[in-house]
Amino acid sequence: MIVRDQWYVAAFGREIGHDLFSRTICGESILFWRTAEGAVTAMSDRCVHRRFPLSQAPTRLVDDRVVCGYHGFTYDAGGRCVAVPGQTRVPRTARLRPYPVLEQDGFVWVFVGDPDRAAGTRVPRAPWLDSPDWTVVSGMEPLAARYDLLVDNLLDLSHETYLHGGYIGTPEVASTPITTEVDDDAGVVYVSRHMDDAECPPFYSRSTGLTGRIARWQDIEYTPPCLYLLHSRIAPVGSVPRPDGSDPDAFHVEVVYAITPETETSTHDFWAVARDFARDDEEVSAFIAEQNRTVVLQDVAALNVLETVVASEPADRQELSINIDTGGLAARRMLARLAAGDAAVAAPVAGA
Ligand code: FES
Ligand SMILES: [Fe+2]
Repeated sequence: MIVRDQWYVAAFGREIGHDLFSRTICGESILFWRTAEGAVTAMSDRCVHRRFPLSQAPTRLVDDRVVCGYHGFTYDAGGRCVAVPGQTRVPRTARLRPYPVLEQDGFVWVFVGDPDRAAGTRVPRAPWLDSPDWTVVSGMEPLAARYDLLVDNLLDLSHETYLHGGYIGTPEVASTPITTEVDDDAGVVYVSRHMDDAECPPFYSRSTGLTGRIARWQDIEYTPPCLYLLHSRIAPVGSVPRPDGSDPDAFHVEVVYAITPETETSTHDFWAVARDFARDDEEVSAFIAEQNRTVVLQDVAALNVLETVVASEPADRQELSINIDTGGLAARRMLARLAAGDAAVAAPVAGA
């Protein structure tokens, strides 16, 4: 179930330049490019004439205009057709569907649905990704599974122990109970797991240099449908943040996922890891990037298998949920409300 009338991450800002770039978001093929002034534009990737995909050669971008590579229909940055071959009159309706688009926190967001609703719909923040105080590595992996399976996966991190053992999983992740909070007014699901005396997994021992046991806090904040944050705190056992809020003995990692449906059964799995330590250490950056990508690919492999099962079974298939699933179930309820058009969940959040 794809929720429309929402903002979705379409790309990292770095992916879009002065070349034609296409990505399918929520089943719609969208053409992106950057104008000479640097603004990102988004419009349908289908020529209005005979539906040629404008992202395909020999379509060209000439002075902020897209010239269709089939018969030469020419479009401006707003998607309006400004020239057609063989006649001077351009049909009035010749316009590519434009999409509301904005760039924020290193992401390009696109609004899919009724464009009149774009301005009143929140775009959640991930400020670490575009901050001089954090070092970021990031990537995107294609997932051949429906996006709700990834939401389920990310809302319950107890799977780290089993699926990601040797990377980020240790016994304590699965054995430590979670607390779940649902803020229906703000439309956010929170899931926390605070391990106060845990094994340090390789992902953190090699990046922080901590040896021995650690305090490991995982605080998830999911803003449906697209943005998932994992506030991760790693510290020597017994260390807690000071009353003034500072936390000098701890290492902080902000893990960000943007979960964007490509189609009903495939997903763009954007990931980013921001850290506030070893900030100039390129070896640590390379290590974290490689480790996190491996972890993401472990999820991708498992969810690709699960998709084939889910696709072969009826929608009311039997599942058995336990405590660890509380966050995932809350997320499902919130997504269902969004799909039903509950404006309270989709409204901009003050200060967000
Ligand atoms: S399909 Fe684009 S000009 Fe004919
Ligand atoms: Fe995972």
